Amino acid sequence: MEITIWQAEAQGAALERSGATVLEPGPDEVLLEVLHCGLCHSDVSMLDNAWGISTYPLVPGHEVVGRVSAVGAGVSRSLLGSVQGLGWFAGSCRHCDWCVGGHANLCPSLEAVVVGRHGGFASHVLAHQDWIVPIPAGLAAADAGPLFCGGITVFAPLFDEAVSPTARVAVIGIGGLGHLALQFARAWGCEVTAITTSMAKAEEARQLGAHRVLSLAELGDHPGAFDLIINTSNHDLDWPVLIASLAPLGRLHQLGVPPSPLEIPAFPLIGGRRSVTGSPTSSPATLRRMVEFCGRHGITPQVEHLPMAEINTAIARLRRGDVRYRFVLDGPA
Ligand SMILES: NC(=O)c1ccc[n+]([C@@H]2O[C@H](COP(=O)([O-])OP(=O)(O)OC[C@H]3O[C@@H](n4cnc5c(N)ncnc54)[C@H](OP(=O)(O)O)[C@@H]3O)[C@@H](O)[C@H]2O)c1
Ligand SMILES: [Zn+2]
Ligand SMILES: [Zn+2]
Repeated sequence: MEITIWQAEAQGAALERSGATVLEPGPDEVLLEVLHCGLCHSDVSMLDNAWGISTYPLVPGHEVVGRVSAVGAGVSRSLLGSVQGLGWFAGSCRHCDWCVGGHANLCPSLEAVVVGRHGGFASHVLAHQDWIVPIPAGLAAADAGPLFCGGITVFAPLFDEAVSPTARVAVIGIGGLGHLALQFARAWGCEVTAITTSMAKAEEARQLGAHRVLSLAELGDHPGAFDLIINTSNHDLDWPVLIASLAPLGRLHQLGVPPSPLEIPAFPLIGGRRSVTGSPTSSPATLRRMVEFCGRHGITPQVEHLPMAEINTAIARLRRGDVRYRFVLDGPA
């Protein structure tokens, strides 16, 4: 079948529209006709081969809302025509300890949508049926795409780690992930602090759920203030200051990917039993709980829509931080 894709021929190159042949869905797979696809900062990192896992030509895009247009032999035909979400992961082995234990996002054989296969800036994308998520009534499908990577990534540190609603939670970086983290943490019942390098975002951060807003430079004035820091920034930060702002038993949860390794002093970890953790989006089951939670609490990505043909404009603007807070590219590709 001939489909349309937006691909980069080489590292850092602009995306170009072209045709490609997509295989029929495997026994366990569905083919989604892409209706909308969000632009995550990980797409930019993949285009730049910042993580050393990119292959070219590269078709980014992993915050898909799509309509099931074909199904493999092992997939119920009742899915045909339904609208589904798809995030970073598109497949896992289904039989390892992690998959059968409900933690398929920790499977050693994970398939990421944009690693070694083509992503959602296209007319169609393939995924294994376990990794698609039905979009419940009450959630606007056109704006929902960013939930399937950005949203699940920041829901996981609350849900998968069973964070207490009495926790004092700080969110560093009010971008695609961070603006959703503020909404989730507020709905969770937590005391929420937004920490930003752009104080111009302060009023919006409060509207998104922050009880207070600090500039990143002020963090050093708040030792012991937080039980959980959800760090979505992809920059090298002053790690000793971050750790010092954690209360005893506090946890720094790393979601953004800074260029250098984290330099963490040992004594505050030892003395206060503080810890540093991270997570890769989450499992299919958590994805389903997340969309229900969003519907119940009115959590929605704040997005700017552009037609898919303007994908290069969106990428250039995301690189300079010129978006509040997520681009969604609309099909047809
Ligand atoms: N773990 C996972 O599974 C997972 C999933 C998705 C994405 N990610 C990663 O998460 C990171 C964030 O993705 P995103 O899509 O949310 O990106 P984004 O929309 O670009 O947001 C990143 C935010 O970082 C902050 N920032 C910018 N410059 C900074 C600086 N010099 N120092 C400190 N903070 C700065 C900005 O917030 P302020 O203006 O508020 O400072 C910016 O909005 C990326 O590294 C991405 O690859 C990880
Ligand atoms: Zn597995
Ligand atoms: Zn992403």
